[in-house]
Amino acid sequence: MSRPSHQPDLTELLETAMAAAREAGAILTRYAQSGFRVEYKNPINLVTEADHAAEQSVIDSIRSRHPSHSFLAEERGRVDHGSSSYVWIIDPLDGTTNFTHGFPTYCVSIGLEHQGQCVLGVIYDPTRDELFSATRGGSAHLNGRPIHVSQTAILDQALLVTGFAYDIRETQQNNLDHFVRFALRAQGIRRTGSAALDLCYVAAGRFDGFWEVKLNPWDMAAGTVILKEAGGEVTNFRGDTHSLYGKELVASNGKIHEAMLSVIQESLRAGPLHP
Ligand code: IPD
Ligand code: CA
Ligand code: CA
Repeated sequence: MSRPSHQPDLTELLETAMAAAREAGAILTRYAQSGFRVEYKNPINLVTEADHAAEQSVIDSIRSRHPSHSFLAEERGRVDHGSSSYVWIIDPLDGTTNFTHGFPTYCVSIGLEHQGQCVLGVIYDPTRDELFSATRGGSAHLNGRPIHVSQTAILDQALLVTGFAYDIRETQQNNLDHFVRFALRAQGIRRTGSAALDLCYVAAGRFDGFWEVKLNPWDMAAGTVILKEAGGEVTNFRGDTHSLYGKELVASNGKIHEAMLSVIQESLRAGPLHP
């Protein structure tokens, strides 16, 4: 079936996203060098003027090429334009805590949902000049070169990564229970502070698996496309189809997926830790 002439193709949309991510990345770099104002959403949840400036830049850049498209962006929420079937899902700065402390692990994340499916992802880490990208049904790339998930087949030899939500002090569903169990089963566990990069690093074989409990669509949209196109698997905690709006996520190279799900189910059965 041919595409209606007014519908952009994925190559054009990918170019839009890559240009927007690089422009926003340059803004983050400038703020990192010059300094920036920080506001507190709560004592551990920060937002900086760089988050806002990068978000504005991504939206302006995409809008200049695709004025009818809608947006879901972390700092401003949903912005609809008519009844477009395209929704850009944007985290302008994933890793704000790292950024604020000068720890160089953060990125711009841009995903595109079309008729309810995520069809494209671009994630740019300006500190390493690493641009991860993928389109649905294509392959995943890092700076233009194909990437693939690792071959690690057992949890005992797996390097895993996770993260913790900003309500960690207020709830028992804070992932510490799963963290403790995985720490005893995996070869190692890291916490980078950027869920979008965590997904890219599983896609690139740098990590073997990633799980997290309370993510938002903008943390996952781009990264899940990149991971799947790199040969990885992503589900919810029961092993069912992952939803961008479902909060929880298990992402892996596929080979250790069942083992990761078993650990999470074991941990859920045991209940939260009581410190
Ligand atoms: C956070 C990071 C972190 C994850 C948190 C996210 P932000 O996003 O991705 O790794 O553990 O759940 O909220 O606030 O830096 O955009
Ligand atoms: Ca985020
Ligand atoms: Ca963010």
